[in-house]
Amino acid sequence: MTEKTILVTGGAGYIGSHTCKLLQSRGYSPVVLDNLVYGHRSFVKWGPFYQGDIHDSLLLDTIFQKHSPSAVIHFAAFAYVGESVGDPGKYYRNNVAGTLDLLDGMRRNGCSKIVFSSSCAIYGLPATLPIQEKQVQAPINPYGKSKLMVEKILADFDNAYGIKSVSLRYFNAAGADADGELGEDHDPETHLIPLTIYSVLGRIQNLEIYGTDYATPDGTAIRDYIHVNDLAEAHVSSLEYLEAEKHSQAINLGTGNGLSVQKIVDEAEKVTGITVPVVYGKRRPGDPPVLVADAQKAWEILGWKPLLSDPATLLGSAWNWHKKRHSDQNLLSRI
Ligand SMILES: NC(=O)c1ccc[n+]([C@@H]2O[C@H](COP(=O)([O-])OP(=O)(O)OC[C@H]3O[C@@H](n4cnc5c(N)ncnc54)[C@H](O)[C@@H]3O)[C@@H](O)[C@H]2O)c1
Repeated sequence: MTEKTILVTGGAGYIGSHTCKLLQSRGYSPVVLDNLVYGHRSFVKWGPFYQGDIHDSLLLDTIFQKHSPSAVIHFAAFAYVGESVGDPGKYYRNNVAGTLDLLDGMRRNGCSKIVFSSSCAIYGLPATLPIQEKQVQAPINPYGKSKLMVEKILADFDNAYGIKSVSLRYFNAAGADADGELGEDHDPETHLIPLTIYSVLGRIQNLEIYGTDYATPDGTAIRDYIHVNDLAEAHVSSLEYLEAEKHSQAINLGTGNGLSVQKIVDEAEKVTGITVPVVYGKRRPGDPPVLVADAQKAWEILGWKPLLSDPATLLGSAWNWHKKRHSDQNLLSRI
């Protein structure tokens, strides 16, 4: 195994922390830069930690000079779609201008490889399914636009400065570390699986399902859920790709198999043995009926396939994590 240092921005967050754990187990040394606006200090266990901002050029220079990272994995961003509509400036400043500051720091310090957390939000409302990378990119909110802008900036930075990138377009991240050390803990939480579990734990009164009249087999919307450890694996594969290859890439990370909201609820009931208190509501504007990845390119370019993204593992790992977390915090009321 090689001992390589990787700068991980946003490494105290959900996907970043799982990736740091995997990096360390594969012989890498992750150095985390996170301002803890959303991350958790307790999630940083696998290398040095700097509490600070990607906008901070002096801090970036200090980290690059002290640790000489061979590459950056860039998770740091704001990711609340609804908030991005009401406050786009916040999103363009953090996600786009912040990434520019990071890229300038890389250039000043001779670092020329980056793996970037992009999103299926760049596709907007897809015309055809499953979604291929070459499909039209027409994001419908500032969050998705900020991710697409960064992809375009990365293409220009490759042409002009030789910075090579892999943009990983995640679909819906879910699940938790098998050892129960890490999990999903966003505040506020907007993702379906943790909200389903919160409703079972009595942390929220009901789980609201938005739309039961979509043209899907059970009428609820379908999304492509990908286990966070499968995502972490794809980051390690992307680093290996950037070591070996000369071309920048943008790659979907999904399973290609969608799960409906109702299927998630059914699986949660199976895993927990508790009835989910569901309330059925209307469709939300802008929610597509189905979002499913064509994940062929990830296999062809990275040799990557999801191994943990079946419903039982997704829900089971998330349940174990939340049960433990909330019993630690004395929040259990229903189990
Ligand atoms: N969770 C998903 O389903 C999903 C799907 C598609 C894309 N993504 C993208 O993946 C990345 C990670 O998502 P996550 O769910 O782990 O989010 P998260 O909020 O748990 O992690 C992001 C981390 O970045 C940090 N951060 C934000 N702005 C920063 C800044 N300016 N300087 C330093 N640190 C900063 C936060 O404190 C947080 O710890 C994000 O870029 C997100 O847009 C996530």
